[in-house]
Amino acid sequence: MKIAVLGTGRVGGVLGKRWARAGHEVVFGTRLPGSEKVAALLAEAGPSARAAAPRDAVSHAGVVVMALPWNIAQEELTKHDLAGKVLVDCTNPLNATFTGLDLGFDTSAAEAIAGWAKGARVVKAFNTVSAAAMADPTFGGQPATMFYCGDDDQAKQIVGKLAEELGFEPIDAGPLSMARYLEPLAMLYIHLAMKGWGSSCAFKVIRR
Ligand SMILES: NC(=O)c1ccc[n+]([C@@H]2O[C@H](COP(=O)([O-])OP(=O)(O)OC[C@H]3O[C@@H](n4cnc5c(N)ncnc54)[C@H](OP(=O)(O)O)[C@@H]3O)[C@@H](O)[C@H]2O)c1
Repeated sequence: MKIAVLGTGRVGGVLGKRWARAGHEVVFGTRLPGSEKVAALLAEAGPSARAAAPRDAVSHAGVVVMALPWNIAQEELTKHDLAGKVLVDCTNPLNATFTGLDLGFDTSAAEAIAGWAKGARVVKAFNTVSAAAMADPTFGGQPATMFYCGDDDQAKQIVGKLAEELGFEPIDAGPLSMARYLEPLAMLYIHLAMKGWGSSCAFKVIRR
């Protein structure tokens, strides 16, 4: 699969590196493709990864992973032609002090992003666990849950498979509007992490 990862920070770095190592063709879309930081990331990711300007990365990919800060989402997304592409939205609409969300309950960051990224098949995913859990989603031999939601079934299947390849148990949470609940779930995660749980924990759905 040809995957563009926008952002080489904690989330983009881990996801892109792991999918490249799994054999996907990954292009990191970055402001600084020639930087030492990006060179180090590419060295870890291996030969299936390269870096390019965001526009170049997006133009060659079928799947675009949005691992950017929420406050630049609109500006960045309106620069690209995303029509028909699967757009994986990892963002959380955190406020400036990281103590709450900028929006929620009657809409979500994912729905705002779907409005800005005209024609993209948006799937909300990879927002409810830390980058550390994305690096290793196995806890006591059990895969952590990765919730995802969206309005395009084929796009959701692709993202569910990508989550499974990383070692998550993917759970389809329903239509994109369910991001109204996945984003507050991420806020709960952040609250717990800051209360002492740290980033080495994850949500798990158990059943009988
Ligand atoms: N950290 C987590 O554990 C976690 C977990 C789940 C979801 N999320 C969400 O995922 C998204 C990315 O989080 P992150 O922790 O990976 O963020 P991060 O470490 O700060 O990385 C964000 C990346 O975005 C790129 N970027 C482009 N324009 C930027 C700008 N104007 N200012 C800052 N960065 C810019 C940068 O990559 P280049 O320099 O290469 O352009 C930067 O490395 C956020 O929306 C966050 O809420 C984070």
